[in-house]
Amino acid sequence: MISPTPSRILASLGAASAAVAAYDLLQRRHSVLRNYPAVGHLRYLLEGIRPEIQQYFVERDWDGRPYDRATRSIIYERAKGIHGEQAFGTERDVEQVGYEWLVHSALPVTAPEQPPRVMVGGPDCRRPYSMSLLNISAMSFGALSGNAIRALNLGAQQGGFAHDTGEGGISPYHQEHGGDLIWELGTGYFGARTSAGDFDPDEFADKAGQDQVKAVSLKLSQGAKPGIGGVLPAAKVTEEIARIRDVPVGEKCVSPPAHRAFGTPVELVGFLARMRDLAGGKPVGLKLCVGSRVEVLALCKAMLAVGTGPDFIVVDGSEGGTGAAPLEYEDHVGMPLTEGLMTVHNALVGAGLRDRIRVGASGKVAAGNDIVKRLIQGADYTNAARAMMMATGCIQSQRCHTGRCPVGVATQSPRRARALDVPDKSERVRRYQHSTVEEAVRIMASMGVRDPAELTPHHLRRNVTGMRSRSYADLHEWLAPGELVDQAPPGWAEDWRAASPDTFRPSS
Ligand SMILES: Cc1cc2nc3c(=O)[nH]c(=O)nc-3n(C[C@H](O)[C@H](O)[C@H](O)COP(=O)(O)O)c2cc1C
Repeated sequence: MISPTPSRILASLGAASAAVAAYDLLQRRHSVLRNYPAVGHLRYLLEGIRPEIQQYFVERDWDGRPYDRATRSIIYERAKGIHGEQAFGTERDVEQVGYEWLVHSALPVTAPEQPPRVMVGGPDCRRPYSMSLLNISAMSFGALSGNAIRALNLGAQQGGFAHDTGEGGISPYHQEHGGDLIWELGTGYFGARTSAGDFDPDEFADKAGQDQVKAVSLKLSQGAKPGIGGVLPAAKVTEEIARIRDVPVGEKCVSPPAHRAFGTPVELVGFLARMRDLAGGKPVGLKLCVGSRVEVLALCKAMLAVGTGPDFIVVDGSEGGTGAAPLEYEDHVGMPLTEGLMTVHNALVGAGLRDRIRVGASGKVAAGNDIVKRLIQGADYTNAARAMMMATGCIQSQRCHTGRCPVGVATQSPRRARALDVPDKSERVRRYQHSTVEEAVRIMASMGVRDPAELTPHHLRRNVTGMRSRSYADLHEWLAPGELVDQAPPGWAEDWRAASPDTFRPSS
């Protein structure tokens, strides 16, 4: 018999580790293991010892991450097709001031078999688009790897929902699987840009005309960094990115803070109308994080003056995510989603424009209750960015800006991106979106509602003390159709008067 000497034990351990590492490299389900063969198991080991030990070793590490434990389990378990139910009850403090809850009915209804969808396209739109209640929010190729874009787009194609390209243009990774695209243009006009950095109408018309592009979106601002454009360092402007964005190879690529194509609300509305025409009548939208109510009202006055407007407006909350932004902006600039959404919704209602414009909402939408809450606050549909990243395998390591994403989602390193298995992760994206919408529809049914149009601000309540809650109907002012135009109520009159269709600045 061979005696187990230390050197033999070490050799056996080495061989076992090598075998595990080889298996990890070949398997396709876990991106972490593909990038960190053998040692990556430590993560799963800690995750497996739950909940007691996890609290000390893993949860502490998660403190302060954007998505809490409950939300993370919802996203990951749904994506993996696990039941997504939890034993024992809530871990939230339901008597906390600010805690919000949805009002169920004594007489729930049965949920519709097919989830409701939203037709996007106002009177000037010739090719309306049927939008899902939950879609993939704007994230560019450049911020995300080619494999992440492929997985998102294939998920969208399989699940019948929309995928926003982000401002980095339409890449071949967006096109490979043919999922519905919303093409976003930011201040850099990437993908439809002249060599001087201006909007190029011919190139725009050419690409917007592609069948896969279902709508076009003009980005004014994004919640995590409103008022600043992104910078792609020269080293990252590879030949591929330069080609997709229409910028020179190896030169710093800057998105300016503001658009050059317009300077006033009226000019902005005119530009949107031109985009819609160039896109062959497809829906045109606007994405913004709200700064001030006066600016939103100025936009409404411009729409009334010009007689047209966007087909949709996506309101992004300051709690939204980014691949890279200064912390001061992430934490302190821009209006949170709840207030931004209610501002845009009420401004459109009050200006008599709401029935022709659909409103989307983004900002930490992750679960079914988030969708329902945003619909109550004035949205017609929602978009999610980080939750979708997590469905493709993101583990919130928060290293997107370094290019060293451990799971190949937010990186341009081909070696790291290889870890992301497109067929597996696209199915996770599809499952996550499908089950989350299904849950939103089920919650609405518990509230006695089969159609989102039946939701009212009475359906959402907020604890104002530890023992008393009030409904959103009670807490906020909701305008009647056309009220601003007829006679602005006292709470809105000053801002309505200060808003001008000819400038974004309030007139005194
Ligand atoms: C990695 C990453 C890249 C993003 N890139 C863009 C972009 O190109 N254009 C844009 O309008 N928003 C961009 N966003 C913002 C999202 O589209 C979204 O508005 C915001 O993150 C809120 O959604 P979330 O809270 O679900 O992440 C990006 C977000 C992330 C996380």
